[in-house]
Amino acid sequence: MKRIVILSGAGMSAESGISTFRDSNGLWQNHRIEEVASPEAWQKNPAMVLEFYNQRRKQLFEVEPNEGHKALAKLESAYHVQIITQNVDDLHERAGSTQVIHLHGELKKARSTVDPNLIYTLNHWELKLGDTCEKGSQLRPHIVWFGEAVPFMDKAVSIAKTADIFMVVGTSMVVYPAAGLIHYVPRNIPKYYIDPKAFHVHGIENMQVIQQKAGNALPKLVNDLLKDL
Ligand code: OAD
Repeated sequence: MKRIVILSGAGMSAESGISTFRDSNGLWQNHRIEEVASPEAWQKNPAMVLEFYNQRRKQLFEVEPNEGHKALAKLESAYHVQIITQNVDDLHERAGSTQVIHLHGELKKARSTVDPNLIYTLNHWELKLGDTCEKGSQLRPHIVWFGEAVPFMDKAVSIAKTADIFMVVGTSMVVYPAAGLIHYVPRNIPKYYIDPKAFHVHGIENMQVIQQKAGNALPKLVNDLLKDL
């Protein structure tokens, strides 16, 4: 089976009703996202950080995967598909994709502030001050914040190197190291970049830029890829 590797970002979930980070000026209650999603913010004002993610988690319990997520899940009938997402939602999984790496963490999980191996799945939206791990320490969102290491990056690089086809969907490609993944993809393989604001990425061979929404472009592209076999 050929291997398709997909790097997705916030635009993937936009048509499900989840706002992207940079389309609406990247502010939350007049804070820059980088100021909320950081270890410094957590030190200074953990209640505010919890509230930021609580609002996102609450919304996640209310939204559904869109046609783009569903199309990618269909690819598994004929390809080995690996999704590497910057998104912290679970919409790829809920659409049926089985191989999903979350580079920036997962909204529906919390983790201990004393032991990073203690990770808990949340079945409710609210994480509060006073919610603790089994060692008695405050729980934090299981999110990779600005300035923190991206634990699955090495794995993502290894996967990118093995791709026969590579897709980038709905990401502004400005946050590293995720945006650098494209440079590990074999030069000669077909690549697609689906994003209404996709720009022409310089120095990347065989890249077809599709300036459309994921929910429009992906069902068609997936049909073509399934026909091409
Ligand atoms: P951005 O908000 O930077 O970019 C979203 C991209 O989605 C933009 O290029 C839009 O043009 C595109 N877009 C909007 N609607 C779309 C649609 N219907 N179909 C396809 N594309 C669409 O989000 P990311 O690139 O994902 O990190 O941001 C990367 C990281 O920065 C996030 O994972 C997050 C953020 O801060 C952390 O929280 C650590």
